[in-house]
Amino acid sequence: MNLYQNSVVLFILVYTIPGCDYLKTKGAEAAVFTLQNKCRNTIWPGILPGSGQIQLMNGGFQLNPGEVVNVTAPKKWSGRFWPRRFCKFDSAGNGQCLTGDCGGKLQCTGAGGAPPATLAEFTLDSPVDYYDVSLVDGYNVRVSIEPLSGTGPTCKPISCLSELNRLCPVGLQVKRNGHVVACKSACLAFNTPEYCCTGAYATPNSCKPTNYSKVFKAVCPTSYSYAYDDPTSTFTCQDGNYLIRFC
Ligand SMILES: *[C@@H]1O[C@H](CO)[C@@H](O)[C@H](O)[C@H]1NC(C)=O
Ligand SMILES: *[C@@H]1O[C@H](CO)[C@@H](O)[C@H](O)[C@H]1NC(C)=O
Repeated sequence: MNLYQNSVVLFILVYTIPGCDYLKTKGAEAAVFTLQNKCRNTIWPGILPGSGQIQLMNGGFQLNPGEVVNVTAPKKWSGRFWPRRFCKFDSAGNGQCLTGDCGGKLQCTGAGGAPPATLAEFTLDSPVDYYDVSLVDGYNVRVSIEPLSGTGPTCKPISCLSELNRLCPVGLQVKRNGHVVACKSACLAFNTPEYCCTGAYATPNSCKPTNYSKVFKAVCPTSYSYAYDDPTSTFTCQDGNYLIRFC
């Protein structure tokens, strides 16, 4: 067969055999994360790869209001994205953020964000893509995840787009100049086994929603409000690309 005939055979295989579908779109390729800043203020997204995974964008960058940036991740990548706010960095990328700071660096390169911060978490191709918005470490900025492609019964947009800072219970509030700029989780604020699902509360059966986690859940029903909130908070897509929106 010549090259042309080979192509024709491959074309027919890909487009007719069920299960060969994935060759049409992604195959062994990467996923694209589209990060969009719809807030009025600048956001400095932080990115922390899972253990053994590569850095994306060296772990952080500046995203101006209205700006959209595509970040490509290899197959099987896992990690988290979070918004940082009220940051100041010098030209060398040293400085600080009021919320979500990762050791005073623009590029987090392996450092996590200081809680409280809203997290967008991903585990790709295991064998499907798992994703969630987590408030387990608290909340700082509105975050949503929308699959731009991908398939599956729970391949759906999820969000925590309510201004939880305004609804944050006293005792969990982080303030700057009298304004609430972030909202701690009860675990972060009180560090007890009941709120953190540790010790005697270290199983899904023993660790139940609390009066604090219920506040989070009422406002953001598709987000993780405490450590064992899995059934209503984990979503999956086959071969997705994802829009991560701030505000
Ligand atoms: C970003 O990725 C999305 C989804 O994969 C794609 O539709 C869009 O064209 C890309 N934008 C740029 C500027 O590359
Ligand atoms: C939650 O319950 C604790 C202990 O009963 C109480 O001290 C606290 O005020 C309650 N918080 C909210 C937000 O209801």
